Amino acid sequence: MASVQRAARRAAARLAPARNLRTSAALARPADQGATALSEHDPEMHSLLNQEAQRQRSGLELIASENFTSRAVMEVLGSCLTNKYSEGLPGARYYGGNAVIDQIERLCQSRALEAYRLDPAEWGVNVQPYSGSPANFAVYTALLNPHDRIMGLNLPSGGHLTHGYYTSLKNGTTKSISATSTFFESLPYNVNADTGLIDYDELASLASVFKPKLLICGASAYPRDYEYKIFRQIADDCGAFLHCDMAHTSGLIAAELMDDPFEHCDVVTSTTHKTLRGPRSGIIFAKKELMNAIDFAVFPSLQGGPHNHQIAGVATQLKEVCGPDFKAYAKQVVANAAVLADTLTERGHTLATGGTSNHLVLWDLRPHGLTGSKMEMLADRVGITVNKNTIVGDKNALSPGAIRIGTAALTSRGFKEDDFVRVADYLCTTLELAKSIQAEVGKPLKNFRPALNDNAEVAALKAEVEAFAQSYPMPGLAIQQPAS
Ligand SMILES: Cc1ncc(COP(=O)(O)O)c(C=O)c1O
Repeated sequence: MASVQRAARRAAARLAPARNLRTSAALARPADQGATALSEHDPEMHSLLNQEAQRQRSGLELIASENFTSRAVMEVLGSCLTNKYSEGLPGARYYGGNAVIDQIERLCQSRALEAYRLDPAEWGVNVQPYSGSPANFAVYTALLNPHDRIMGLNLPSGGHLTHGYYTSLKNGTTKSISATSTFFESLPYNVNADTGLIDYDELASLASVFKPKLLICGASAYPRDYEYKIFRQIADDCGAFLHCDMAHTSGLIAAELMDDPFEHCDVVTSTTHKTLRGPRSGIIFAKKELMNAIDFAVFPSLQGGPHNHQIAGVATQLKEVCGPDFKAYAKQVVANAAVLADTLTERGHTLATGGTSNHLVLWDLRPHGLTGSKMEMLADRVGITVNKNTIVGDKNALSPGAIRIGTAALTSRGFKEDDFVRVADYLCTTLELAKSIQAEVGKPLKNFRPALNDNAEVAALKAEVEAFAQSYPMPGLAIQQPAS
């Protein structure tokens, strides 16, 4: 019996090399598949990607939080950097093979400090947050204990969810909407109902009683600049940290077109894909003495491996931001927003705060008896992308009375002031069409939606808008260039 087993083992050993060859040939096939183009590998996804590219190119993109990043950034995003794990910080990683990744992250850090003219002896930066919301939560995790108090601009006043949003229920209780208000005690401050401007007096008086440990400034739908000196005074009066979330305006601040939050704040966070025009990511700047806590909150407290392709994309974009042309771009964004605001006002419309000093306007549709939802829906059908937005005084948060319109993305396609007069005209035409459809079918949204189908006026406006949009170049990949 033993001799039979020995013979079987000898035979198996003789066969092993041939079997190994077969195994490696089989393994080579999946490796080949890794080199197949998307169009062949996944035609369904390839088609969806092309459809989205076509939508972006043929429409008027007016979402205030969006932009079109460059081909250089896109190249970095679709690179081998997505393959690498690098938990930890440059020079102190939990994985091997990070010599190049360390250089990339350090380059991103130094360009980030340069973009905001920061002294590395005074400020540190963490470029690993996956996006704006995780960046904010990392700040709270670093600086606060559970149930510490925070104050941020209320969502219906233009603030962001992550600044502590909760709703009040009819039975007098509240419901946390953002995790920020689940883990911390939040008291929002508001804009003044008449002016639309932040009510600094109300904020000061609320803060003197509530005594937050963290005061947040910055917003998602606020068309004006911030009084950082007043924020600092209020924070100092209650011993609070001052945090600016400059997500929307970080490109304009880098270009020195808006006041500098770094002069007054302890921590500054941002997304990198709005007016900064980079890839989707997040970034945290903090005074040097807070940096250890911030770094620890990002990793290991909240995140795992950094998204190195995103960090490299941010670094590449920051090269542009630090270079000579970005300021001209940012100036054009602001000039275009001013023209948009002036044109809408001249045509008799109402804007929150009466206009804008940055890249966005908040258009109050309530005087027209129209909701933001209907305007957004019809605009979408005619190739104009905007979003419904709450505005101070809205009775029902589910039925916002405004739309938010931003100029950063179309400015990246080369739109100038005259072009934005035409954009304003298209928006006015869309509004009039929405009003006439509503007059025909009545107020319920369920009647409005089907009335847009097979509507000749909708189709004609869409054709006009698309022809206009398609005549402009599109930054990014070659696939997105206008058809010749
Ligand atoms: C002011 C502000 N902060 C944070 C965020 C969140 O960014 P993200 O969507 O990348 O998480 C946004 C997003 O629009 C924002 O407007």
